[in-house]
Amino acid sequence: MSVPARGSLVAAVDQGTTGTTVCLLDRDGVVVGRGYTGIRPGFPRPGWVEQDPDELWRSVVDTVAAALAGCGRRAGELAALGITNQRETTVLWDRRTSAPVHPAIGWQDRRTAAVCERLTAEGHAGAVGERTGLVLDPYFSGTKIGWILDDDPGLRRRAGRGEIAFGTVDSWLVWKLTAGAAHVTDVTNASRTLLLDLAAATWSPEMLDLLGVPAEVLPAVAPSSRVYAETDPDAFLGVRIPVAAVIGDQQAALFAQGCFEPGQAKNTYGTGSFVLVNTGSALPAPQSTLLRTAAFQLDGEPVRYALEGAVLSTGAAVDWLRDSLGIIRDATETADLAASLTGNDGVYFVPALAGLGAPHWDPRARGALLGITRGTTRAHVVRAVLEGIAYRTRDVVEAMGAAGFPVRELRADSGAARNHWLMQFQADLLGVELDVPDNIETTALGSAYLAGLATGFFADREELAGHRRSAERYRPRLSRAERDRSYRRWLRAVDRARDWAKD
Ligand code: G3P
Repeated sequence: MSVPARGSLVAAVDQGTTGTTVCLLDRDGVVVGRGYTGIRPGFPRPGWVEQDPDELWRSVVDTVAAALAGCGRRAGELAALGITNQRETTVLWDRRTSAPVHPAIGWQDRRTAAVCERLTAEGHAGAVGERTGLVLDPYFSGTKIGWILDDDPGLRRRAGRGEIAFGTVDSWLVWKLTAGAAHVTDVTNASRTLLLDLAAATWSPEMLDLLGVPAEVLPAVAPSSRVYAETDPDAFLGVRIPVAAVIGDQQAALFAQGCFEPGQAKNTYGTGSFVLVNTGSALPAPQSTLLRTAAFQLDGEPVRYALEGAVLSTGAAVDWLRDSLGIIRDATETADLAASLTGNDGVYFVPALAGLGAPHWDPRARGALLGITRGTTRAHVVRAVLEGIAYRTRDVVEAMGAAGFPVRELRADSGAARNHWLMQFQADLLGVELDVPDNIETTALGSAYLAGLATGFFADREELAGHRRSAERYRPRLSRAERDRSYRRWLRAVDRARDWAKD
């Protein structure tokens, strides 16, 4: 039973790959304050992605403070705080000092590709898929933990003695917020580690053994909506408030999009793109190309599951156009550039900048730009990147149909959902309607909703579903023959990108 919260605001922290967003919601579910701090991941070697755990933590405190200051409110007005986060990113720290013992290894990092290939060659893929819902790919946390511990035998010994803690970013932040009072993760984040028995929602001794991860490093697994502990005033803005939600960012978006019923689906267009379809409280049958994942768990309720099509690099390709190639100044330029052409003139871009995720699962794939001629312009490259985002979404939506979960309507969110050209192209290519809500910061909203439910700040799911308002609806305009023609060519482009980084 939740006790009604006293404060007048709930704070949602969304700690993502490229930045930390904070939204402050009032009791009507209206966002009354907002803050953002950008973060640049490090790319120390090809295929490696690292982050500084202390920078992630500091960004959380600073961004909550900035959000409060921006709307003239005080930390004492907070009733609860919810966290959503980039998933799979792996942090190890010293339990005594709370100091990280290694840079966080990012979810896009490919350094453990050889470990995954060895385990696959040894015949483990089937059992791993059945137990965890995942595939043997460097994307997930388990092999990253093993890599850090294997890199430093002294650290492995300390981990075995219980001196080291592991967490995905949520656990790390809760630890810091509560000054070490809670070492916890929720079932959605745990389901991304390769270490969770998905049906039992408990850590799997077999997986710990297979990946060489000592049980002593693990956090407790909890529902996504519950008061885990209170913030420590010395650590967090001088206030003691309940930390009342933890949920992976993609699952938070599914929740905020009101996809409470089996069959409802969303796509979040962020650093990567992640299509999730709610499959209800029965665990779906094992899959070969899609992930089975925990969708959310309310306190005292069963785990809800989802099928996920994880596309590892989409918005990251637009960032690359801006930051590495310098051919755009801002992502908002891309829609007009794409629309300046009447077609793609045969130019395709496969955004395999972190290998290929679902349904291809090829960590050795590399990005590819195909079909260029002397007449190819900046607009072609930009358009090919946007089209590549939409084609990758079709890859996973096709796989969902084949798995018996056809997507009949897609709720779209996050930054690129404001790109009208991309959204229309996506609807055309899928042949289904796309619906974009008025508030596209669904990841933050989801964690605010769950924190509000745990503390009585919000009443129930029905109240929350009533807060979602459709802002735009995109209807497909192409015949099946038209949308299939270009898709066939896309699949040829994907073939060219595969295996490229294999020695
Ligand atoms: O699984 C990765 C996902 O959680 C991505 O998060 O913050 O990069 O959109 P973000």
